Amino acid sequence: MTTGRRLGRTRHPRRGTLRATGVPIFGLIVALSVTACSKVITTDWWPETGTMPSTADAPLPSTASPPALALPGPRVEYGFTAPAINTPGELIPRLAAMRSDNLAVSARWAELPGSTEFNTTLLGRISSAAHEFVSQQGSVWSPGTDLLPGGVGAPCEPNPATLDFVGPTLTVECTIVNASGPLLAERLVTIERIDRVAIRINREVLYAHTEHGTVADGAALYSESSIRRVINLLTEGLHASGRVPVGTNPFRDVSPDGLRTILADSVLLPDGDVVITSPLQPAPDGTGLRTMPVIVPGRLIEPSLSEFGRAARDAVLSAEPVLMPATLTRVQPVDCGFLPCVALSFDDGPAGGKTERLLDVLGEHRAPATFYLQGGYVASDPGLVDTTARAGHELGNHTWGHPFLTQLTDEEVRSEINATASQIHAASGIWPSSVRPPYGDFDERVAGLAGAPLVIWDVDTKDWATPGIEVVIERAVEWSSRGSIVLMHDTHGSTIDAVADILDGLSTRGFAFATVSGLFGGTLPGAGTVVRHGPG
Ligand code: NI
Repeated sequence: MTTGRRLGRTRHPRRGTLRATGVPIFGLIVALSVTACSKVITTDWWPETGTMPSTADAPLPSTASPPALALPGPRVEYGFTAPAINTPGELIPRLAAMRSDNLAVSARWAELPGSTEFNTTLLGRISSAAHEFVSQQGSVWSPGTDLLPGGVGAPCEPNPATLDFVGPTLTVECTIVNASGPLLAERLVTIERIDRVAIRINREVLYAHTEHGTVADGAALYSESSIRRVINLLTEGLHASGRVPVGTNPFRDVSPDGLRTILADSVLLPDGDVVITSPLQPAPDGTGLRTMPVIVPGRLIEPSLSEFGRAARDAVLSAEPVLMPATLTRVQPVDCGFLPCVALSFDDGPAGGKTERLLDVLGEHRAPATFYLQGGYVASDPGLVDTTARAGHELGNHTWGHPFLTQLTDEEVRSEINATASQIHAASGIWPSSVRPPYGDFDERVAGLAGAPLVIWDVDTKDWATPGIEVVIERAVEWSSRGSIVLMHDTHGSTIDAVADILDGLSTRGFAFATVSGLFGGTLPGAGTVVRHGPG
């Protein structure tokens, strides 16, 4: 949709031309917007609320002849859909889905790499909606895989998961409605249905200002004292549509929190206009209740903008390519209690040349992994270990010389593990989180001596035997389940060649990627324990 089309479509009936007076054009536009607005509000329904916004308090010029300029006021645009911006490739697609005999849930959203607050806010909204819905149905959240064709897919892909389900469903769909300069705006539409009929709909736009580090919903575009005024503009648009009788105020009995909830779904358009979707109103074709998207011109919304709103509006008007946060290159942590996770692990490195290539592939997919390092190789390439840690991957201990630990004395076991831990710490400043015994060879004695949990695996690709890239891909993708720990080796070029397809294949099944600690919410079980699989 273009600005020209929108401006040309509807004309405010109460406004005239600029030529009618000698007032400078800019001042007149401001005066017109204020006077026209207050006139409409006063005559139609404003007195019902008892309060007047300060911006509408300007006295009406009693001698002004009717101006002929047709500046549009707030207006309903049926069928308006929030503009989907070509999502910046850097966004991380997320999918959380669950299906049981008595319910289905699918939620898609897109995370902004490096913006922890934005991602946490999104996750909080979606996770609490899903948990609440599932518990209302008497179930407990359990993230599922293999539920959607195409799996995780691209950011904000359409969400077909629950279409064929008769019974209670919850879907969350996202749209990127703005991505300009430091601003990213993501709209979430949450719909609860029973037998395919929507019974509850919640809409919200979340804005991230990456320069200011601010995250806020659509209602925060407006100053607190302007909430009523913006609701009045919304009402003016509904009146102009002819579907809400002039003289009635559909929001008169809505609480301040309720009004904020309505305004949370405010979409800033590229020209600075704002679209607010009203709650259900009678449909134009008499077919029941529909939501009505009301477009409020930027010049009318301007006096109501908060500081955040003005910063957001300026970013939108700049029309510059979106600026991603500086920490873009790091992989992103993920909540494995809400998403089905898999942990890829790579042993026997660092392996100069190959590990760098692996880090590139993982970085492109924003997928974290865990590296079980050998002390001897760490000593010869400490810089590569540091790079691995800085990229957001987890470092683990794979001993110094790769012995069968059960065949060593206590002293030798401790020496293998401690020397390697010190070397990893010297290279990266990080103590390894866990120990992986070479060959998976351990016993109770070794586990007791390790000083950290032993992390084994449940999916062995046997990539070291070079069975062929396709075989490695198939084993990693097909044998994984929720919480799996996959064993591979970055010392083999053919393994590195397989990783992109493994990541894509697991994403298609609906998995997210985590470090081994990530599987356990960030903290592994304590020293002396043996882990083969994450929770789930
Ligand atoms: Ni090994």
